[in-house]
Amino acid sequence: ATARALVDPSFSLGEIDPRVYGSFVEHMGRCVYDGIYDPDHPTADEDGFRGDVADLVRELGPTILRYPGGNFVSGYRWEDGVGPRADRPVRRDLAWKSIEPNLVGTNEFLRYCQRVAAEPMMAVNLGTRGIEAATALVEYTTLAEGSYWSDLRRSHGVAEPWDVRVWCLGNEMDGPWQLGHKTAYEYGRLAAETAVALRRVNPEIELVACGTSKPVMPTFATWEAQVLEQCYSHVDYMSMHMYVDPDLADDVPTLLASGLEIDAYIDSVIAASDFARAAGKHSRPMPLSFDEWNVWYNSRPREIGVWPSAPELIGDIYSMADALVVGSFINSILRHSDRVRMACLAQLVNVIAPIRTEPGGGQAWRQSSFYPFALASRFGRGESLRVGLQAGRHDTARHEDVPDLDVAAVRDPASGTLTFFVINRDLSNTIPLELALGGFTGFEAGARIEHTVLTGPSAAATNSASQPDTVVPRAGRSGRWSGEAIAIEPLSWNMIRLH
Ligand code: AHR
Repeated sequence: ATARALVDPSFSLGEIDPRVYGSFVEHMGRCVYDGIYDPDHPTADEDGFRGDVADLVRELGPTILRYPGGNFVSGYRWEDGVGPRADRPVRRDLAWKSIEPNLVGTNEFLRYCQRVAAEPMMAVNLGTRGIEAATALVEYTTLAEGSYWSDLRRSHGVAEPWDVRVWCLGNEMDGPWQLGHKTAYEYGRLAAETAVALRRVNPEIELVACGTSKPVMPTFATWEAQVLEQCYSHVDYMSMHMYVDPDLADDVPTLLASGLEIDAYIDSVIAASDFARAAGKHSRPMPLSFDEWNVWYNSRPREIGVWPSAPELIGDIYSMADALVVGSFINSILRHSDRVRMACLAQLVNVIAPIRTEPGGGQAWRQSSFYPFALASRFGRGESLRVGLQAGRHDTARHEDVPDLDVAAVRDPASGTLTFFVINRDLSNTIPLELALGGFTGFEAGARIEHTVLTGPSAAATNSASQPDTVVPRAGRSGRWSGEAIAIEPLSWNMIRLH
């Protein structure tokens, strides 16, 4: 049956913050070393960053990059990663049981952000360290001169301070796996005290408190309430993390319905933070930073080895079906534009990443998941619109009443372009989709349409270094559109733009 998506200029879900198209660089596995960084690579720049990988990062289009972790940050001594490289210590990274050579640190990463045109989002260690190390880092990074840490940066050859606005107050402090794991009360107090101190160093910064690390945490929601009870008025955002595991979904229809769980989780985090807002008599709603999200085959056994350097750690290879889940994450984030103001696809290169490199300086290539992100980051800007969707529905092993389509809509106020991101969850049927434009004017006389389709030979199809183009977008119809239904192929992600 024909589906119908209704949008109207009055049904705005809020302005899309460009920072929702962020990603994440952790000192983990082959993300940094043998990923973005390889000084022996023919395309390496003066810092040792691979130029071919940087080109792919720019094409992917992350607006903000979180760094240096992740679990890694909770044991990190940032001082180890600044100053002359020859003097930097080699350490054991207790989070991932790997060797950390400290060849990449704060200044190199911040130069990388400039190179790929992304804003940095830095995290401080509230696991094994605390307020003093955090204030020193903010001073080192963002103050001009005339104090011990800012002058130390200058002595390291970085004369101007970096413009680092966003700072995460630790990482996943609710998780027992986290170095320095804390109770909600302990963490909430520490986040509040650290926030007060950091704002004294630099009042311009924006601070993110750690929310829950995954929806199944037994402390989920009470963690948010208790942490925010301590630090609500001191922080600007609350984080949330979520990974979808295709192995746990067990079948493709169930996996493709995970968008329902993503929507429900965001709604629950909003509810928990609104409870803290009401209980604390705060007027400002708490914006969310969804600063780790992706597909992660997390239930598979992991070989870490004995203190390896840059091991192949969670180097997941993504399928066509996984790319649709990535598209669903983006649609869910867009549906919550008023509250989700930052988000990071975790991670950027090699570690659960849209970009892969062959070990030892080999070829770099795009995974299936690269494309929904890259196209949404480029074209999903402006105002997010509520979509009134009429579509067929189905049940899965875990869900009831799943819409066959997942649709998000965006209006670019500058050009008036309407962009629809459409996922067909049906594995075998093409669904005709009518676009009903409500009170939008200017499209009646025949709009220009551009339809881009991402699909593949099967749900399990993947790209690889030797076959990088198995799952790639192709142009659908383009030309004049006068209101006829648009064919949405089975198992596909689509971008439909009307000008
Ligand atoms: O992104 C991989 C890991 O997942 C991060 O280090 C941690 O924060 C999360 O559990």
